[in-house]
Amino acid sequence: MRTDQPSRTARKIALNIVSLGATPGAADTLPAGMAHATARLLVASGAAGPALVRWSRSWQVVSLYHLFDPLMPGEFEGIGRRKVFCEQQLRDALQKGSTQVLVLGAGYDTLAWRLAPEFPGVRFFEIDHPATSRLKQKGIKAMGRPGNLHLMAEDLARTPLTKVMETEPSWAPNAQTAILAEGLLMYLPEKAVKALFTQCHDITGPESRMVFTYIGTGAGGRPDVGWLSGLLLWTMALAGEPWLWSLPPERLGAFLADTGWEASPCTPESPSGHGVEFYAVADKQKIKQERSPFSTRLPPTAR
Ligand SMILES: C[S@@+](CC[C@H](N)C(=O)[O-])C[C@H]1O[C@@H](n2cnc3c(N)ncnc32)[C@H](O)[C@@H]1O
Repeated sequence: MRTDQPSRTARKIALNIVSLGATPGAADTLPAGMAHATARLLVASGAAGPALVRWSRSWQVVSLYHLFDPLMPGEFEGIGRRKVFCEQQLRDALQKGSTQVLVLGAGYDTLAWRLAPEFPGVRFFEIDHPATSRLKQKGIKAMGRPGNLHLMAEDLARTPLTKVMETEPSWAPNAQTAILAEGLLMYLPEKAVKALFTQCHDITGPESRMVFTYIGTGAGGRPDVGWLSGLLLWTMALAGEPWLWSLPPERLGAFLADTGWEASPCTPESPSGHGVEFYAVADKQKIKQERSPFSTRLPPTAR
């Protein structure tokens, strides 16, 4: 992605959430407080002005989303479903004993900010590209940063996660951890994605969980979002956030196999009606858990 500008796609998703919060029928399905917190964060960070946030809540914008929905069926409400799925999986992981949460490519997502006061005994961490993280940090500071929420700025395509977390004194590499990579992996080169999973294995303790979303691969080996794939890929590249990675869902198990993770039964079978992405949950493989944290045997991430 472009190194000099905050993520436009992160802003787009946040505005989508604000619009969903004003959509009859959809608003009630979002996690409590999400739409309101997202609107506050957009303004407090400077990512969007109050007028744009107000406009995103208007019936005109909601109607426009519905009007264009047939172009990518389910995408507008799919973003809300994606948020609900990820939050449910994270809450489940916390209930099962996770004491750390790490959100990768967090954008203007408010999950960690909302959950941190609710789970004071859990440490929450977020990482995003420096250009976006700068705005996020400004917004979270203005809204009040919970003491157990730590925001970090790093380019995950360049700096190995193991290195990033080594510099964070409150990160416990042997703790049961829940990691979220929502709407991130398609922006990283394949080598960096693979390395990221392996590094997530090496910085976490037994019983850890990863929750992530990804784009499926279509004919010709390129990311597949239906008949508009070509146009969308071109638009994303033009916006400076090209999609670099995708995976055929039937290859998920094989992809994870040598990273130290395995697909969890919580992984839904199909994305149908849920927008263009697949959702997945991975559990840490028990067999590899004796590997030492911060292993130096990791392949470097792509540059
Ligand atoms: C589509 S947004 C998703 C934001 C958030 N996860 C959500 O679902 O609302 C993609 C996010 O990934 C971040 N990102 C993309 N490439 C990155 C990189 N190389 N290192 C760190 N973050 C990156 C962007 O800054 C952006 O916040």
